[in-house]
Amino acid sequence: MILEAINYAATYRKTPPEFRPYIRYSVNLWARANRCGKAWAEHEDDSKRFILSAAAKLKQRRTAVVLGSGLLRDVPLQQLAAGFDTVVLVDLVHLASLRATLYARHSRTVVLNHRDLSGYDDLKAGKPLEPLGFLRLVPYLDLVVSTNLLSQIGTGIRNRLEKQPDPALPQDALPQLIQAHLDGLSSLPCKACIITDTAFEVIDKNGTQHQQEDLLHGVRVPKITRGWDWPVVPFGEESRDYQIIHKVVASELT
Ligand SMILES: C[S@@+](CC[C@H](N)C(=O)[O-])C[C@H]1O[C@@H](n2cnc3c(N)ncnc32)[C@H](O)[C@@H]1O
Repeated sequence: MILEAINYAATYRKTPPEFRPYIRYSVNLWARANRCGKAWAEHEDDSKRFILSAAAKLKQRRTAVVLGSGLLRDVPLQQLAAGFDTVVLVDLVHLASLRATLYARHSRTVVLNHRDLSGYDDLKAGKPLEPLGFLRLVPYLDLVVSTNLLSQIGTGIRNRLEKQPDPALPQDALPQLIQAHLDGLSSLPCKACIITDTAFEVIDKNGTQHQQEDLLHGVRVPKITRGWDWPVVPFGEESRDYQIIHKVVASELT
Protein backbone atom coordinates (compact mmCIF):
# COMPACT_ATOMS: atom_id res chain seq x y z
CA MET A 1 0.00 0.00 0.00
CA ILE A 2 2.85 2.39 0.89
CA LEU A 3 4.74 1.58 -2.32
CA GLU A 4 1.56 2.23 -4.31
CA ALA A 5 1.09 5.62 -2.63
CA ILE A 6 4.72 6.58 -3.35
CA ASN A 7 4.44 5.47 -6.99
CA TYR A 8 1.18 7.44 -7.34
CA ALA A 9 2.64 10.62 -5.87
CA ALA A 10 5.87 10.44 -7.90
CA THR A 11 3.92 9.77 -11.12
CA TYR A 12 1.46 12.61 -10.44
CA ARG A 13 4.15 15.29 -10.67
CA LYS A 14 5.46 13.97 -14.00
CA THR A 15 2.05 13.53 -15.65
CA PRO A 16 0.28 16.32 -17.59
CA PRO A 17 -2.93 17.35 -15.74
CA GLU A 18 -5.35 15.91 -18.31
CA PHE A 19 -3.86 12.42 -17.85
CA ARG A 20 -3.70 12.43 -14.05
CA PRO A 21 -7.14 10.82 -13.61
CA TYR A 22 -5.71 7.66 -15.22
CA ILE A 23 -2.80 7.23 -12.79
CA ARG A 24 -4.88 5.26 -10.32
CA TYR A 25 -5.72 2.63 -12.98
CA SER A 26 -2.01 2.25 -13.82
CA VAL A 27 -0.97 1.95 -10.18
CA ASN A 28 -3.69 -0.67 -9.59
CA LEU A 29 -2.52 -2.55 -12.69
CA TRP A 30 1.07 -2.41 -11.41
CA ALA A 31 0.04 -3.81 -8.03
CA ARG A 32 -2.06 -6.58 -9.61
CA ALA A 33 0.70 -7.45 -12.09
CA ASN A 34 3.14 -7.84 -9.19
CA ARG A 35 0.69 -10.12 -7.34
CA CYS A 36 -0.15 -12.19 -10.44
CA GLY A 37 3.36 -12.34 -11.96
CA LYS A 38 3.48 -16.14 -12.08
CA ALA A 39 0.05 -16.52 -13.69
CA TRP A 40 0.76 -13.79 -16.28
CA ALA A 41 4.28 -14.96 -17.21
CA GLU A 42 3.31 -17.19 -20.13
CA HIS A 43 1.11 -14.48 -21.68
CA GLU A 44 3.91 -11.94 -21.30
CA ASP A 45 6.47 -14.31 -22.88
CA ASP A 46 4.10 -15.10 -25.78
CA SER A 47 3.54 -11.38 -26.39
CA LYS A 48 7.26 -10.59 -26.37
CA ARG A 49 8.05 -13.51 -28.70
CA PHE A 50 5.40 -12.33 -31.17
CA ILE A 51 6.75 -8.75 -31.21
CA LEU A 52 10.33 -9.94 -31.70
CA SER A 53 9.34 -12.28 -34.54
CA ALA A 54 7.65 -9.34 -36.32
CA ALA A 55 10.67 -7.07 -35.74
CA ALA A 56 13.01 -9.76 -37.07
CA LYS A 57 11.32 -9.53 -40.50
CA LEU A 58 12.27 -5.88 -40.96
CA LYS A 59 15.02 -4.76 -43.33
CA GLN A 60 15.56 -1.51 -41.39
CA ARG A 61 15.15 -0.88 -37.66
CA ARG A 62 15.08 2.86 -37.16
CA THR A 63 12.01 3.89 -35.11
CA ALA A 64 9.62 1.55 -33.26
CA VAL A 65 6.43 2.81 -31.59
CA VAL A 66 4.72 0.86 -28.81
CA LEU A 67 1.07 1.80 -28.27
CA GLY A 68 -0.30 1.07 -24.78
CA SER A 69 3.22 0.48 -23.46
CA GLY A 70 1.98 0.72 -19.84
CA LEU A 71 4.15 -1.29 -17.48
CA LEU A 72 6.17 -2.82 -20.35
CA ARG A 73 5.43 -6.29 -19.01
CA ASP A 74 4.49 -7.70 -22.39
CA VAL A 75 7.00 -5.63 -24.38
CA PRO A 76 10.58 -6.86 -25.06
CA LEU A 77 12.05 -3.41 -24.37
CA GLN A 78 15.67 -4.52 -23.92
CA GLN A 79 15.75 -6.09 -27.38
CA LEU A 80 13.80 -3.28 -29.08
CA ALA A 81 16.04 -0.64 -27.52
CA ALA A 82 19.13 -2.58 -28.61
CA GLY A 83 17.85 -3.16 -32.16
CA PHE A 84 16.20 0.20 -33.03
CA ASP A 85 17.65 3.72 -33.10
CA THR A 86 14.60 5.04 -31.23
CA VAL A 87 11.71 3.42 -29.34
CA VAL A 88 8.68 5.62 -28.63
CA LEU A 89 6.40 4.48 -25.80
CA VAL A 90 2.84 5.85 -25.98
CA ASP A 91 0.34 5.60 -23.13
CA LEU A 92 -1.99 7.72 -20.99
CA VAL A 93 0.41 7.22 -18.07
CA HIS A 94 4.08 6.32 -17.61
CA LEU A 95 4.57 5.29 -14.00
CA ALA A 96 7.45 6.69 -11.97
CA SER A 97 8.53 3.13 -11.10
CA LEU A 98 9.06 2.52 -14.81
CA ARG A 99 10.70 5.86 -15.60
CA ALA A 100 13.41 5.15 -13.05
CA THR A 101 14.56 1.96 -14.82
CA LEU A 102 14.09 3.45 -18.29
CA TYR A 103 16.26 6.45 -17.68
CA ALA A 104 18.95 4.41 -15.98
CA ARG A 105 19.22 1.93 -18.87
CA HIS A 106 17.87 3.47 -22.08
CA SER A 107 17.92 7.26 -21.70
CA ARG A 108 19.17 7.90 -25.23
CA THR A 109 16.97 5.44 -27.12
CA VAL A 110 13.57 5.55 -25.41
CA VAL A 111 11.10 8.44 -25.73
CA LEU A 112 7.92 8.70 -23.66
CA ASN A 113 4.73 10.17 -25.10
CA HIS A 114 1.51 10.85 -23.17
CA ARG A 115 -1.48 10.48 -25.47
CA ASP A 116 -5.11 9.37 -25.44
CA LEU A 117 -5.21 6.80 -28.25
CA SER A 118 -8.97 6.22 -28.08
CA GLY A 119 -10.15 8.82 -30.60
CA TYR A 120 -12.93 9.79 -28.16
CA ASP A 121 -12.38 13.55 -28.50
CA ASP A 122 -12.69 13.42 -32.31
CA LEU A 123 -15.81 11.28 -32.15
CA LYS A 124 -17.36 13.69 -29.65
CA ALA A 125 -16.48 16.67 -31.88
CA GLY A 126 -17.94 14.94 -34.96
CA LYS A 127 -14.53 14.92 -36.65
CA PRO A 128 -13.18 12.05 -38.80
CA LEU A 129 -11.76 9.31 -36.57
CA GLU A 130 -7.98 9.15 -36.92
CA PRO A 131 -6.65 8.14 -33.50
CA LEU A 132 -3.31 7.07 -34.98
CA GLY A 133 -2.93 10.04 -37.36
CA PHE A 134 -0.04 11.37 -35.24
CA LEU A 135 2.11 8.46 -36.45
CA ARG A 136 2.41 10.20 -39.82
CA LEU A 137 4.64 12.74 -38.05
CA VAL A 138 7.01 10.12 -36.63
CA PRO A 139 10.19 10.04 -38.76
CA TYR A 140 11.74 6.79 -40.02
CA LEU A 141 8.91 4.66 -38.68
CA ASP A 142 9.60 0.95 -39.26
CA LEU A 143 7.47 -0.81 -36.61
CA VAL A 144 4.28 -0.08 -34.66
CA VAL A 145 2.95 -2.52 -32.05
CA SER A 146 -0.31 -2.17 -30.15
CA THR A 147 0.20 -4.11 -26.93
CA ASN A 148 -2.88 -5.24 -25.02
CA LEU A 149 -4.47 -1.83 -25.39
CA LEU A 150 -7.43 -2.27 -27.75
CA SER A 151 -9.90 -3.81 -25.29
CA GLN A 152 -8.99 -1.08 -22.79
CA ILE A 153 -10.08 1.60 -25.24
CA GLY A 154 -13.61 0.11 -25.23
CA THR A 155 -13.63 -0.53 -21.48
CA GLY A 156 -12.27 2.95 -20.66
CA ILE A 157 -14.88 4.75 -22.77
CA ARG A 158 -17.69 2.53 -21.44
CA ASN A 159 -16.66 3.37 -17.84
CA ARG A 160 -16.48 7.06 -18.72
CA LEU A 161 -19.96 6.99 -20.29
CA GLU A 162 -21.42 5.10 -17.32
CA LYS A 163 -20.26 7.94 -15.03
CA GLN A 164 -21.10 10.74 -17.46
CA PRO A 165 -23.53 9.69 -20.24
CA ASP A 166 -23.09 11.65 -23.46
CA PRO A 167 -26.27 11.64 -25.59
CA ALA A 168 -24.38 13.33 -28.46
CA LEU A 169 -22.26 10.20 -29.04
CA PRO A 170 -23.49 7.64 -31.60
CA GLN A 171 -24.97 4.37 -30.28
CA ASP A 172 -22.13 2.41 -31.84
CA ALA A 173 -19.38 4.64 -30.37
CA LEU A 174 -17.42 1.70 -28.88
CA PRO A 175 -17.21 -0.47 -32.02
CA GLN A 176 -16.43 2.67 -34.07
CA LEU A 177 -13.47 3.55 -31.83
CA ILE A 178 -12.20 -0.04 -31.76
CA GLN A 179 -12.48 -0.34 -35.56
CA ALA A 180 -10.69 3.01 -36.00
CA HIS A 181 -7.67 1.68 -34.07
CA LEU A 182 -7.47 -1.40 -36.31
CA ASP A 183 -7.98 0.67 -39.47
CA GLY A 184 -5.29 3.12 -38.34
CA LEU A 185 -2.80 0.28 -37.86
CA SER A 186 -3.76 -1.45 -41.11
CA SER A 187 -3.17 1.70 -43.16
CA LEU A 188 0.38 2.32 -41.90
CA PRO A 189 3.22 2.24 -44.45
CA CYS A 190 5.38 0.13 -42.08
CA LYS A 191 5.03 -3.16 -40.19
CA ALA A 192 2.08 -2.89 -37.81
CA CYS A 193 1.11 -5.59 -35.30
CA ILE A 194 -1.46 -5.96 -32.59
CA ILE A 195 -1.80 -8.13 -29.52
CA THR A 196 -5.15 -7.78 -27.81
CA ASP A 197 -7.54 -9.62 -25.56
CA THR A 198 -10.84 -10.13 -27.37
CA ALA A 199 -13.06 -11.71 -24.70
CA PHE A 200 -13.10 -12.91 -21.11
CA GLU A 201 -14.57 -15.98 -19.45
CA VAL A 202 -15.38 -16.56 -15.78
CA ILE A 203 -14.56 -20.20 -14.97
CA ASP A 204 -14.97 -22.19 -11.74
CA LYS A 205 -12.76 -24.94 -10.27
CA ASN A 206 -14.63 -27.64 -12.24
CA GLY A 207 -13.95 -25.84 -15.50
CA THR A 208 -17.57 -24.70 -15.85
CA GLN A 209 -17.99 -21.36 -17.59
CA HIS A 210 -20.29 -18.89 -15.76
CA GLN A 211 -19.97 -15.76 -17.87
CA GLN A 212 -18.48 -14.69 -21.16
CA GLU A 213 -18.10 -11.21 -22.65
CA ASP A 214 -16.91 -9.90 -26.00
CA LEU A 215 -14.42 -7.13 -25.19
CA LEU A 216 -14.28 -5.84 -28.78
CA HIS A 217 -18.03 -5.18 -29.14
CA GLY A 218 -18.46 -7.26 -32.28
CA VAL A 219 -15.35 -5.98 -34.07
CA ARG A 220 -13.13 -8.73 -35.52
CA VAL A 221 -9.32 -8.55 -35.63
CA PRO A 222 -8.11 -9.53 -39.13
CA LYS A 223 -5.07 -11.68 -40.03
CA ILE A 224 -4.80 -13.42 -36.65
CA THR A 225 -1.74 -15.68 -36.59
CA ARG A 226 -1.66 -16.71 -32.93
CA GLY A 227 -3.92 -16.95 -29.90
CA TRP A 228 -3.56 -17.90 -26.24
CA ASP A 229 -5.19 -17.61 -22.82
CA TRP A 230 -4.24 -14.97 -20.23
CA PRO A 231 -5.42 -15.73 -16.66
CA VAL A 232 -5.90 -12.04 -15.75
CA VAL A 233 -7.62 -12.98 -12.48
CA PRO A 234 -6.21 -16.33 -11.33
CA PHE A 235 -7.80 -18.41 -8.55
CA GLY A 236 -7.22 -16.64 -5.23
CA GLU A 237 -6.94 -13.12 -6.67
CA GLU A 238 -10.62 -12.15 -6.31
CA SER A 239 -12.08 -15.48 -5.22
CA ARG A 240 -10.91 -18.98 -4.30
CA ASP A 241 -13.67 -20.44 -6.43
CA TYR A 242 -13.32 -18.79 -9.83
CA GLN A 243 -10.77 -17.40 -12.24
CA ILE A 244 -11.14 -14.99 -15.16
CA ILE A 245 -9.40 -15.97 -18.37
CA HIS A 246 -8.92 -13.48 -21.21
CA LYS A 247 -8.69 -14.76 -24.79
CA VAL A 248 -5.73 -13.08 -26.53
CA VAL A 249 -4.98 -12.85 -30.26
CA ALA A 250 -1.90 -11.62 -32.13
CA SER A 251 -2.00 -10.27 -35.66
CA GLU A 252 0.39 -8.78 -38.20
CA LEU A 253 -1.89 -6.27 -39.87
CA THR A 254 0.67 -5.10 -42.45
C1 LIG B 1 -3.56 -4.06 -20.09
S1 LIG B 1 -2.54 -2.66 -20.05
C2 LIG B 1 -1.24 -3.22 -21.13
C3 LIG B 1 0.01 -2.72 -20.63
C4 LIG B 1 1.32 -2.97 -21.34
N1 LIG B 1 1.29 -3.34 -22.71
C5 LIG B 1 2.29 -3.74 -20.50
O1 LIG B 1 3.12 -4.47 -21.05
O2 LIG B 1 2.30 -3.61 -19.28
C6 LIG B 1 -3.37 -1.45 -21.04
C7 LIG B 1 -2.59 -0.15 -21.19
O3 LIG B 1 -3.32 0.68 -22.08
C8 LIG B 1 -3.31 2.00 -21.59
N2 LIG B 1 -4.49 2.70 -22.14
C9 LIG B 1 -5.79 2.43 -21.89
N3 LIG B 1 -6.59 3.28 -22.58
C10 LIG B 1 -5.75 4.10 -23.29
C11 LIG B 1 -5.96 5.19 -24.18
N4 LIG B 1 -7.19 5.61 -24.46
N5 LIG B 1 -4.89 5.81 -24.71
C12 LIG B 1 -3.61 5.38 -24.40
N6 LIG B 1 -3.35 4.34 -23.57
C13 LIG B 1 -4.40 3.72 -23.01
C14 LIG B 1 -3.34 1.86 -20.08
O4 LIG B 1 -2.84 3.02 -19.45
C15 LIG B 1 -2.46 0.62 -19.89
O5 LIG B 1 -1.12 0.99 -19.70
